Amino acid sequence: MSQHPNNPVLTIANLRVCFPAKGADTLNVIGGLSFQVYPHEFLSILGPSGCGKTTLLRVIAGLLSPGAGNVAFTSLPDSSKPAVGLVFQQANLMPWRTVYSNISLPLEIAGYPPGSYSKRIRELIHLVGLDGFGDSYPRDLSGGMLQRVAIARALIHDPALMLLDEPFGSLDALTRERMGVELLNIWQVSRKTVIMVTHSISEAVFLSDRVIVLSPRPALINLDLRINLPRPRDENTRYQPQFGRLAKTLRKAIVEEQVT
Ligand SMILES: Nc1ncnc2c1ncn2[C@@H]1O[C@H](COP(=O)(O)OP(=O)(O)OP(=O)(O)O)[C@@H](O)[C@H]1O
Ligand SMILES: [Mg+2]
Repeated sequence: MSQHPNNPVLTIANLRVCFPAKGADTLNVIGGLSFQVYPHEFLSILGPSGCGKTTLLRVIAGLLSPGAGNVAFTSLPDSSKPAVGLVFQQANLMPWRTVYSNISLPLEIAGYPPGSYSKRIRELIHLVGLDGFGDSYPRDLSGGMLQRVAIARALIHDPALMLLDEPFGSLDALTRERMGVELLNIWQVSRKTVIMVTHSISEAVFLSDRVIVLSPRPALINLDLRINLPRPRDENTRYQPQFGRLAKTLRKAIVEEQVT
């Protein structure tokens, strides 16, 4: 278990999730998972396809109830749930709305008057590197730019916790690397706690303070690894010998689903 001087923001204790399967069977997706997440930590989750990573994020976001166990936001005195920002593989923007009004949508829905948030939206557009694109429509943006809009939209409530589910999974390799650097910058400025699911070992090493590798379903922790690479990190970080060693350790811990 990793050592950390602060109290955890999130404590997951003995979490189990199962879904009804064909007939009377149940599919055990998460099988007694326990870990803690610390303030401002960048935690990545790796694991074979279908092991329950998205399910885990959905439980943390409160979109799905755990079958058993506990998900507690331990930093809050009243243990109420903080605002959570969610980013998925697809940006899921409204095609008929501009960048600005896609980002403002959650606040519009919440009933805030338009004048109260325009400064905040301009700041977010700047933070994600989209200055000058506020009036553009999604069809005029690249895949990387669309994901930046999705990240800005997820930050609009100033959530304590950001949950990212393969946010760059639909991008080409080079754009993906560049977006990793961008996300690192955004994270350094916004100081959010981040939990990111990814299939990319190098992305996990480059971005994270810590990486958890899940086992095939039912998900359990195969490895909980601290990424002790110095920060700030940049492109040269990828060429450090320690980067390769960490990537190799993670690769060995990922057990592929047995195909029978
Ligand atoms: N609502 C649901 N009802 C029934 N089964 C579900 C439901 N959601 C997920 N599952 C099943 O639970 C398992 C885990 O799904 P999940 O989407 O969490 O995997 P994952 O680790 O995110 O996979 P991938 O890496 O491919 O995205 C899968 O076998 C999936 O079919
Ligand atoms: Mg998934």
